Amino acid sequence: MGEMQTAAMPIPPAGQFPRKGSYGIDAPYFLPILGIFFAINVVNALISRRIWPALGAALILFCGFWGLHTSKRGKFLVWADLLNELQLRGDERILDLGCGRGAVLFLAAQHLSRGRAVGVDIWNRADQSGNSEKAARRNAMAEGVADRIELMTADITQLPLESDQFDLVLSNVAIHNIKGKANRAKALEEAVRVLRPGGRLLIADLRCTAFYRGYLTKLGMIDVARKNLGWRMWWSGPWAATRLVSARKPVKNS
Ligand SMILES: C[S@@+](CC[C@H](N)C(=O)[O-])C[C@H]1O[C@@H](n2cnc3c(N)ncnc32)[C@H](O)[C@@H]1O
Repeated sequence: MGEMQTAAMPIPPAGQFPRKGSYGIDAPYFLPILGIFFAINVVNALISRRIWPALGAALILFCGFWGLHTSKRGKFLVWADLLNELQLRGDERILDLGCGRGAVLFLAAQHLSRGRAVGVDIWNRADQSGNSEKAARRNAMAEGVADRIELMTADITQLPLESDQFDLVLSNVAIHNIKGKANRAKALEEAVRVLRPGGRLLIADLRCTAFYRGYLTKLGMIDVARKNLGWRMWWSGPWAATRLVSARKPVKNS
C-alpha cells in the first residue's frame, strides 16, 4: 500500500500580511542615527531658512522609511516568492544561517510536511532588535511550525553539523555581519560542506555578494548566479539593494 502524502502547508500569498510572529527590526542602531541626522537637518533648515537642509531631512526620512519597510514587510514578501519558486516537495532538510527571530526560517518551514528546518544563530541584538532563541521559539509557535524546526546557538563559521545533509541552505542578510573576509569565506565553506550533493544554496545580502559568487565558484559550486532582489529589499534606498547569490552543489561522480 502506498504511503499517504501530507500536503505541505502553502506559504501565505504575498498580499497576506502581517505575519503572526514578531520579528523586530534589522540593524536597529541605524534608526536612532538617522533620527539624529534628521533632527540636525530640520533645525538647520529652520534657522538658516535654506532649502538644502530641508531636502537633506526629506532624504533621511526616505532612507528610514525604506529600511523599516524592508525589515517589516519587504523581506518577507521577497522570500515568500523565492521559496515558492523552489517548488519544495515538503520532505526537505533546510538550514537557515543566521536565522535571527526566524523571518525566513519559518516561511521555509511552512513548506514542509515531513521535512525539518534548522536555524543557527548567535542572536546578536545589534543585528536584529530583541534577537534571542526564546523570541525565535515564540515565533515558531505563533506561525504553527514549532513541530518541524530546530534552533541552535552556534557561529556559522564553525557549524556543529555533519557534512552533506541539507537539501537547501539559506541565509538572509547575515554573512556580511561577520568580521573579516577570511571568516566570511569560512561561513561559505561551511554552507557548502553541510549541503548534500545536488543541494541548493540561496544567500541574500546587501554587501559582499560579488565575493560570495566568486568564492562559491572557486569552491566548485555550479549554477552560480547573482541577481538584484529589487525595491522591496532596499535597506535605505536603491544604494543599499539586496542581491541574491544562488548555487548548487555538484553531484560527485562515483
Ligand atoms: C540582520 S539579522 C537577519 C536575521 C534573519 N536572517 C532575518 O532575515 O530576519 C543578521 C543575523 O545574523 C546573525 N549572525 C551574525 N553573525 C553571525 C555568526 N557569526 N554566526 C551566527 N549568526 C550570526 C545575527 O545574530 C542576526 O540574527
